[in-house]
Amino acid sequence: MIGNEKGGAGKSTLAALIAISMLYRGQRVSVIDLDLRQQSLSRLLANRRRWLPAAGVEAPSPLEYKLVDDPARIADDQPTALRLFEEAMTMAMGDSDLIIIDTPGGDTAVSRAAHLQADLIVTPMNDSFVDFDVIGNVDPVTMRLIRPSHYAETILNARAMRAQHNRRLDWVVVRNRLAGADTNNRERVGKALNSLAEEVGFRIGPPLRERVAYREMFPFGLTLADVSPRLRPDNMSSPKLAARQEVNALLEALGLIVLARPDAPAARVADESAFAVAP
Ligand SMILES: Nc1ncnc2c1ncn2[C@@H]1O[C@H](COP(=O)(O)OP(=O)(O)OP(=O)(O)O)[C@@H](O)[C@H]1O
Ligand SMILES: [Mg+2]
Repeated sequence: MIGNEKGGAGKSTLAALIAISMLYRGQRVSVIDLDLRQQSLSRLLANRRRWLPAAGVEAPSPLEYKLVDDPARIADDQPTALRLFEEAMTMAMGDSDLIIIDTPGGDTAVSRAAHLQADLIVTPMNDSFVDFDVIGNVDPVTMRLIRPSHYAETILNARAMRAQHNRRLDWVVVRNRLAGADTNNRERVGKALNSLAEEVGFRIGPPLRERVAYREMFPFGLTLADVSPRLRPDNMSSPKLAARQEVNALLEALGLIVLARPDAPAARVADESAFAVAP
């Protein structure tokens, strides 16, 4: 599950990237977009379903469970959204190895329900103290935690409830859109995040840099995971390769893949994407 009460942190981007990367790794992936108003992930997948056949290209797509045809219609009717979400989850659990849930940048009943069901919560955050505040309030002098944020408390409650049933909840915070310059800010955020991680109880995943490659393929419904080095090597520029490595490191840290073992079947992945993208 991808969540952060803060908007624009990279939730939908990460949700698409993880879902499609895992499809190439042979997993049966389902997605549920709980951002009922924006539907960014759902729109990316709709673009994908139109673009792939139009371009005569074969590539895997996740199963999408939509709560209703026009989810914006039920955004203000959370009891209905909740009921339909539970139904979607039940169906998705029947035929998926992995269910990716994208959530809105705000607190809704249906998003809270998703946080309770998740085994893994991935929280992208921009590298700024504004985003930082959404996870925990920190003393500006000592950099110690004053209190976890409302959002962190939601996750800690979910973890406590799951613990009663012997179920774990892994929470990974991922710094997103890291800028090349800006080293002072980056170091300060990094330090503060480390101390917060210990006090609040999350892991810090490998970061993703700010890269056009993460957003340029939205109109085609494609992600970096679709770009093939084998079929069109000239299109696999070095920034894309570097981005691919970032994504692989992240998937590994999330426990979704085991990297670089010569005997691991996962190694077939990236080179077998069916096509190259030339937008
Ligand atoms: N690593 C990145 N490099 C470049 N652009 C990025 C990166 N991550 C996200 N973006 C861009 O930042 C914007 C916000 O990302 P995204 O829509 O994924 O965030 P979100 O958390 O889902 O937002 P919301 O809360 O509004 O749903 C988008 O334009 C996206 O393309
Ligand atoms: Mg989003």
